[in-house]
Amino acid sequence: MSTNAHPLRPLRWVTSSKFTGLELIDQTQLPNDLTHLKCGTVDSVWHAIKRLSVRGAPAIGVAAAYGVIVALNETGASSDWRTTVNKACDYLATSRPTAVNLFWALDRMRAKAAELDESSFDAARAALLAEAHAIRNEDAAMCAAIGNAGKHLIPEGGGVLTHCNAGALATSERGTALSVMYAAHEDGKQFTVYADETRPLLQGARLTTWELMQAGVDTVLICDNMAAVVMREQKVQVVVTGADRIAANGDAANKIGTYGVALLAKAHGIPFYIAAPSSTFDLSLGSGDEIPIEEREADEIRAFGARLTAPEGVRVYNPAFDVTPAELIAGIITEKGLISPVSEANIRETLAAADAPSPAGPA
Ligand code: MRU
Repeated sequence: MSTNAHPLRPLRWVTSSKFTGLELIDQTQLPNDLTHLKCGTVDSVWHAIKRLSVRGAPAIGVAAAYGVIVALNETGASSDWRTTVNKACDYLATSRPTAVNLFWALDRMRAKAAELDESSFDAARAALLAEAHAIRNEDAAMCAAIGNAGKHLIPEGGGVLTHCNAGALATSERGTALSVMYAAHEDGKQFTVYADETRPLLQGARLTTWELMQAGVDTVLICDNMAAVVMREQKVQVVVTGADRIAANGDAANKIGTYGVALLAKAHGIPFYIAAPSSTFDLSLGSGDEIPIEEREADEIRAFGARLTAPEGVRVYNPAFDVTPAELIAGIITEKGLISPVSEANIRETLAAADAPSPAGPA
C-alpha cells in the first residue's frame, strides 16, 4: 500500500519572532547544497520564481499565492489592502508565462479577495493566508491522488523514462510524474527510472536524480541525446513526464525536449504519459498553438555556470518549453483518474467529475 509519507517539502509558510514569510528550498543550489531561501518581500518571491529557485508548475502557483501574503505583510495594516493584493497578483503574474498554475493560483487569490467586501486588514490577511494554505494542501492531495491513479502503469522489473523534474520539488510534495513512481515503489514494485539530464538547466540531473535517490528508487542518469538508444535497447517500457499547461484538446506544454522524447517513444512503440493536476489544464485554449512559451536568457545555453562554452555573442534560441501534440500522448494521469484516449471530450468529462477518493488527506 502507498504510505504517502514522502518527506521532501520544497516550500513552507513560516511565522516566527525572527521571520514571517515564505521559505523555499533554493533549487538553483541543488544537489550540492541544500539551502533555504527566506522571501520576505514580494520582489524576492518574484525573483525566486524567475531564476528557478522555486520551479515546477504547481510549486510556482503555491509560491505566488503566498507571495500575495508577503506583499500584505510588507505594506502593513491598511484599509487599502485590496490594491496591494491586486498589484501583487499583477506583478507575480509577470514572473513566468507558461505554467498556467501560476495564473490559476493568483486568480484564486483575487477571487478570495473579491469575496471579502468590507473586511478589515487583519481579517482579509487571515482569510487570504487560509486560501494560500488551501491551495498548497489541495496541491499535495492532488499529487498523492495522481500517484495512486498512475502507479499501475509502472512495469514490474522494467524501466521508466522521465524528463525534467516533476517531483516533490516541483509541487507541494510528492510531485506528479514522480508521485506515480513513488507510489509504485511504496507498493514494492522493482523498476529503474532513467532520468534525462534536461539541458540547459539540468533539472533532471540535479533534481530528479537527487530526490529519487533519497527515496531509494533505482535511478540512472542519461544525457538527453541518449533517450533513443535507451528505448531501442528496450530498457524502458513507459515514459511519464509532467506538464506546465494542457490545452482543451490535450496538447501539453512541458520542459523543452519533452516533444522529442514523445516522438522517440512513438517510434519505438512505447506509451508516453503526462501526469498533471487539474490546475494545469487551460480549457480556454483550443490547442497547444495558443500556449505562451517562455524564452530565457542566452547565457543559459552559451555558458555553463560562469564559464562560456560557446563563442561570446553567438546568437541563441532558448525556448524553455515545447508542446507535445495530443496524438502522441497515450494518457494524462490526473487526480481524478487516467484520461485515455486523450480527447477534448474525455478531458472535459474527467475534469467535470467529482474528485476520485484519495487515501491521503492534506498535509
Ligand atoms: O522550468 P521549470 O523547471 O519550471 O520546468 C518544469 C517542468 O517543465 C515540469 O515538468 C512541469 O512544471 C511539471 S512539474 C510537476
